[in-house]
Amino acid sequence: MSSTGAHQDFLPLLGTDFIELYVGNAKQAAHYYKTAFGYQGLAYSGPETGDKEKVSYVLRQQKVTLVLTTALKPDSTIAKHVDLHGDGVKVIALTVSDARDAFEQTTKRGAKPYMQPVVTKDASGEIVMSGIQIYGDTVHLFVERRNYKGIFLPGFKSWESSYAPSEVGLKHIDHCVGNVGWNQMNTWVTFYEDVMGFKNILTFDDKQISTEYSALMSKVMSNGNGYVKFPINEPAEGKKKSQVEEYLDFYNGEGVQHIAIGTDNIIETVSQLKNRGVEFLSIPSAYYDELLNRIGPIDEDIAPLQKLGILVDRDDEGYLLQIFTKPVEDRPTLFYEIIQRKGAKSFGAGNFKALFEALEREQELRGNL
Ligand code: FE2
Repeated sequence: MSSTGAHQDFLPLLGTDFIELYVGNAKQAAHYYKTAFGYQGLAYSGPETGDKEKVSYVLRQQKVTLVLTTALKPDSTIAKHVDLHGDGVKVIALTVSDARDAFEQTTKRGAKPYMQPVVTKDASGEIVMSGIQIYGDTVHLFVERRNYKGIFLPGFKSWESSYAPSEVGLKHIDHCVGNVGWNQMNTWVTFYEDVMGFKNILTFDDKQISTEYSALMSKVMSNGNGYVKFPINEPAEGKKKSQVEEYLDFYNGEGVQHIAIGTDNIIETVSQLKNRGVEFLSIPSAYYDELLNRIGPIDEDIAPLQKLGILVDRDDEGYLLQIFTKPVEDRPTLFYEIIQRKGAKSFGAGNFKALFEALEREQELRGNL
């Protein structure tokens, strides 16, 4: 980092603040995220707190905060979002120390405004929030909470519930992947570089990410301190329909494909998730035959990895373990990745082929390959 300020990060990000999904029935979705994924109820807003238009449930597990929002009226933009996209991610909120400056820095570099800086207050202090549009109907909110001591945001009350299944070891958001349209990957790479000061840290072309049938391309964007990483995928031509294209068809446009959440013990976390009904992509047992030859020695026994379908990959700095859920809604759109990093900073490129073949088996069952 230069001391002259020439390379100063113009958009310092303190991390992911929350992810907000617009859903058809937030009450039921909140129950699913508590029961299946072990999120704890944190805060609530709705008619009882003075919001007659929508209801939001806030759930938290360690550093991961999810907001599930549903419309109370049919003409709401939230209802239209759900009608068009199904349940999906509307907001990737980023914590900043100055939300006015984040808005100014990004919009002067070409970002389309979504929310002018707004100050909200309650007895716990004040929050400043602003927002810009990204791919599809998705947005980034910039959240400045340094003068706020409340549980979430003004307008929310504590969500009291005696139903609280235990956490499963989900700790933080590792990365958040966007699917964009044909030939749009570089548009969004440029957006993250020019508008948000991110760097392209990894690139996968369609030769690396292809199977016999379908292909995609991906570039990983990271902010200056590496706390926030956004891989961007676009479909590529293959013999049959790309998994990214299937997503674009069912989401009716660009949007968040998957959110990767870190754990310190993937075997324990995934065992619990499976017991609670979370469905994962299954990996053929042949994957494990060659695993140790491919990646070298690891701390874990192969048997539980194979039983659970956990994938392993190695790079120059170490290795990682990862697994992918099936889509968590009926449309084949948003899914989750569970990841444990043991030194590796990459994204599991060595697993792409096994993974995409697993995805294609699911895509074929849906008649979309
Ligand atoms: Fe991922």
